[in-house]
Amino acid sequence: MQKSVRLKSFELIAQDIKSVDVSLLHALSTGVGWPHRLKDWEFLRRAGRGIVAVDGIGRVFGSAMWFPHGDDFATIGLVITSPRTQSEGNGRWLMQQVFEQCGDRNLALNSTDAAYKLYLALGFTKEATVYQYQGEVPPALPALPALNGELSALSIDKIEEITALDTCAFGTNRARLLALLAEGAAICVLRRGGGIVGYSMCREFGRGHVVGPIVASNDHDAMHLAAVHLEDLAGQFARVDTREKGPFANFLQQSRLAISETVTTMSKGRPFLNRKANEPAVFGLAGHALS
Ligand SMILES: CC(C)(COP(=O)(O)OP(=O)(O)OC[C@H]1O[C@@H](n2cnc3c(N)ncnc32)[C@H](O)[C@@H]1OP(=O)(O)O)[C@@H](O)C(=O)NCCC(=O)NCCS
Repeated sequence: MQKSVRLKSFELIAQDIKSVDVSLLHALSTGVGWPHRLKDWEFLRRAGRGIVAVDGIGRVFGSAMWFPHGDDFATIGLVITSPRTQSEGNGRWLMQQVFEQCGDRNLALNSTDAAYKLYLALGFTKEATVYQYQGEVPPALPALPALNGELSALSIDKIEEITALDTCAFGTNRARLLALLAEGAAICVLRRGGGIVGYSMCREFGRGHVVGPIVASNDHDAMHLAAVHLEDLAGQFARVDTREKGPFANFLQQSRLAISETVTTMSKGRPFLNRKANEPAVFGLAGHALS
């Protein structure tokens, strides 16, 4: 008697990502080694839209999400297919469903190496590298340059005070996402000359905490805006995703956070990144899926 059998492949159907039990999404991301907790998936489902690929008995074999910011822009993320079904067209099919839902929006995403060729084939263009810094925060951070301005906490009911600055840095108004992030985040602002010139958030995510978004006009401001949260996380796991290579990145390294992965920022439609010298910029990402 033959001791193995090759089963016929089965059909997957697309379903709204909000229709499945969140534990199935958690199992999917854990299966590809991602750190998302159940709570992270719950948050992402509130923040965005998406689909899952399910089989005839409701098992989840893939996911793809998109996060609209206004009518003409969205970021894409949480594109996952379960390892046993990869390289069979599931990822491409999920992306096509997302395109249909996104309409003619301009799109941006942060691609893993595994997905890079797929996104190139789907018309995305490379823009930048994102460095994922993470590790246990040491008891003392490196010495910082003098602070130019005043740092203070921002309460959630004042969240709209950072919208204009963030829109300038991010390129699109993402006030709805910021309000959602703020629900579970510590928020710090840097004031100078009577106005807010930078802000940072810190929230629980994955193995510990993420410091991001971090928006600032220069590296020194960004360091202070990151340090204010990292100081509270001594001995705990923290993560910062950044496209920076200069003094801000050096500060992260000196804070004993190491690069654990890189992903590639890509866009389809109008270019996503549009950094101008001495203008507010995103030094720390909200997350890979959120950009
Ligand atoms: C990236 C991922 C979603 C692709 O899903 P998939 O189901 O394998 O995708 P498809 O079968 O539709 O393959 C799409 C294309 O990518 C190619 N491809 C698939 N896996 C690949 C890999 N590991 N390396 C290089 N190319 C790969 C396929 O050859 C295919 O090309 P083709 O359409 O020209 O034949 C899947 O590998 C995955 O979940 N990886 C882990 C999580 C991840 O990195 N997600 C991406 C987040 S940005």
